[in-house]
Amino acid sequence: MCYYFYMTERHPNFDVLLKHPEKVEKRYPELHTEDFEDRLCDLAEELFIKQNELGTGKSADVFRDDQKNAGFCYKVVDRQGFLDHDTEIEMSFMEKVRDIDDSVFVPEPIASIKARGVDKGDGKRGSRQVLVMDEVYGNTIAYVCTHREKLPENYDHDRFFSLLNNFISNINKNGIYHRDLHAGNVMIDNETGNPAVIDFGRSFERVLVDDNPYKPEEMYIKDEITGRREKTIVTFKSDESWVRDLEKMMRGVKSLTD
Ligand SMILES: Nc1ncnc2c1ncn2[C@@H]1O[C@H](COP(=O)(O)OP(=O)(O)OP(=O)(O)O)[C@@H](O)[C@H]1O
Ligand SMILES: [Mg+2]
Repeated sequence: MCYYFYMTERHPNFDVLLKHPEKVEKRYPELHTEDFEDRLCDLAEELFIKQNELGTGKSADVFRDDQKNAGFCYKVVDRQGFLDHDTEIEMSFMEKVRDIDDSVFVPEPIASIKARGVDKGDGKRGSRQVLVMDEVYGNTIAYVCTHREKLPENYDHDRFFSLLNNFISNINKNGIYHRDLHAGNVMIDNETGNPAVIDFGRSFERVLVDDNPYKPEEMYIKDEITGRREKTIVTFKSDESWVRDLEKMMRGVKSLTD
């Protein structure tokens, strides 16, 4: 079941799709659902001012709401990278994957906010989408490799990749392809040492048997310097092949820390 709330007073241009009001109530017991919507909208505008960035990617910046320490984080999609980025679609992929296989952690999506006419901080107003989800407590493989970060005590290379491989082959068998499993999109949970997979912004669902998830796609990409939109052909690498590369990268890290 999902609940739609349309902001009418303070934020006429904000649409909030809240998937888990019960989870919000649990984490913010003193807030009513309507107050939480307000809070989400405030955050969607203010996150950049606070210096609590968890990470950054090609299309989004991710922040923690550390005032509350509710365990949620906020993926703010502001850049016009891939025009088809849609937080509601990303949210539905995360839900599907969580239903198929919970052996690898995928953050639970809580809400998607779509805002128009937001102050983008550079004197311009534009649209913004925010995906609210569980925070993963850990580092990405990319971070671990570039910072030579110590691995969590429970980390076991073979277990990590056996979990990740089984998970990927299971979701693929069920018709879902992540398609962007680079080192910035796979994290190592600090407590368990196990993998967590994030960023389903480019995922694909195979509906017909002959749908090819890896066939080239035409996308419009905005050149950040000229501001022009250009048609680009994007090809996708298979999920298994991404994981093979990650395994090789982590083999190197392992031998550095042994
Ligand atoms: N749920 C989360 N918990 C903790 N950190 C996160 C979470 N989601 C994202 N991050 C951090 O934010 C970074 C950017 O997020 P994400 O990968 O979703 O953005 P993106 O712009 O879509 O990335 P890409 O460059 O892969 O397209 C991640 O690499 C990670 O460091
Ligand atoms: Mg990413």
